[in-house]
Amino acid sequence: MSQEREMWKSRIGLILATAGNAIGLGNFLRFPVQAAQNGGGAFMLPYLVALLFLGIPLMWCEWAMGRFGGSKGHGTTPGIFNHLWKNPVSKYLGVFGVLISFGVGVYYIYIMSWTLAYSFFSLTGQYAGIETREAMGAFLKDFQGVSGESWLSVSSLSYLFYLLSLGLVLYILSKGVVKGLERLAKYGMPLLFIFGAILVVRVFTLGTPDPTMPERSIHAGLGFLWNPDFAALKEPSVWLAAAGQVFFTLSVGFGAIQTYASYIKKKDDVALNGLSTASTNTFAEIILGGSIAIPVAVAFFGIEGTTQIAQGGSFDLGFQTLPLIFMDIPGGAFFGTLWFFLLFVAGITSSVAIVQPFMAFLQDEFNLSRGKSTLITGATLFILGQPVIFFLKYGFLDEMDFWLGTFGVVLFAVIEVIVFVWIFGPKNAWAEITEGADIKVPKFYFYILTYITPLFLMGLLGFWLYDQGWQVIMLKNVSKEALPYAIGLRTMLVLMFLGLAWGVYHGFSKNKRKESL
Ligand code: ALA
Repeated sequence: MSQEREMWKSRIGLILATAGNAIGLGNFLRFPVQAAQNGGGAFMLPYLVALLFLGIPLMWCEWAMGRFGGSKGHGTTPGIFNHLWKNPVSKYLGVFGVLISFGVGVYYIYIMSWTLAYSFFSLTGQYAGIETREAMGAFLKDFQGVSGESWLSVSSLSYLFYLLSLGLVLYILSKGVVKGLERLAKYGMPLLFIFGAILVVRVFTLGTPDPTMPERSIHAGLGFLWNPDFAALKEPSVWLAAAGQVFFTLSVGFGAIQTYASYIKKKDDVALNGLSTASTNTFAEIILGGSIAIPVAVAFFGIEGTTQIAQGGSFDLGFQTLPLIFMDIPGGAFFGTLWFFLLFVAGITSSVAIVQPFMAFLQDEFNLSRGKSTLITGATLFILGQPVIFFLKYGFLDEMDFWLGTFGVVLFAVIEVIVFVWIFGPKNAWAEITEGADIKVPKFYFYILTYITPLFLMGLLGFWLYDQGWQVIMLKNVSKEALPYAIGLRTMLVLMFLGLAWGVYHGFSKNKRKESL
């Protein structure tokens, strides 16, 4: 007999939790870097197009699939696909929806732990007195344990913060949907918006920090992001980056939205909920996320300097440049703490959301108790997290982020849209999305969903395969030193897939009763 599935307690709790699911490190760290790397205003147009034609339709699909699955006792895509498409293959395709969310969770928690550590460092003045970007970079590398001669990337401090962060995530998950996820969002999300608003006000009042360099100002930073550049529409790489960002920031293509949506009732709305998840996330991304890191970096380093910093990767802007700037302004320790704690809150509300599918998989498909599921989840996260931590200097984390957080999400979006829209049927999919809707979903979205979204997705995937796919698949972009680790990572991903597929095979044969519902 399966256990009773939990349900969200209140609508506001649900909205905050799903906003927390989407709003994460992607909004505040990844977005500014992607935007700056891809020409600021040049990035924003493809970004908005991808949001309208990929992000929002996929969000609706995932919400609808989640509610559909929840009504049949399944919160993850193996079970959901199995009901949408009566074919033995479907549940194995659904495995990607558990693999991707959980796999991202493995390294996401480690990055989140850095933000917790840096909140502490800011508060206690650990990096006070560092004056150059290089020195700040060295501080980060020391903390991550990647600067020494040692074969492994080790630093006891970063390991300690990792254990603390993992423990927090597991503690919240062990409390369940209402007392864990919903409660965290009820406290965390208002805090996040308050911190974000304070930081934006502070940034906007910085004006032109050095009057002898009028081109370096907050105003110029906002202009960099908001002055559209139509010429860049011809650049396929900007489209890829923009679509990738939309996926990551909305958490679509992960398999995680479905799990949160599976805890609502059969007759509850999904259309307005889906739209509000996407709009709250977009607000947090372009209004808050877009008004902190980029303008402040342009005000101090100019547009060229900011673009150069962004080329350094996802963390240079957030972990090196901003602390440096904060120390240059009055009350810097306070603003630095606010910045990193904002990242931590954004990170933890997303971490629990991307790990929850694995919890739900264990609970729904194996009838395991929450306690046992938390133990298994914790042990698996811990084991898989070790290579991420210890092989950081060989690019293990970046490689994992590429395969799961960039490539995997697009691949899984293609799979889910084919299963839900084309195989389950466009009319059935539309009926699922609009049933019980608290808003009128514009009819043209039916056509977008049926034709434009799938073709757009396939175009992206096809272009990537043509442009870089072969190079990447054949490991041509990996240095000799990093090669064994890149191969190790791929092996680990294949084993994770096989492990989950084995679980599906056994779990589903035991659970025949549920399947006949
Ligand atoms: N959507 C989450 C983020 O933006 C994963 O970080």
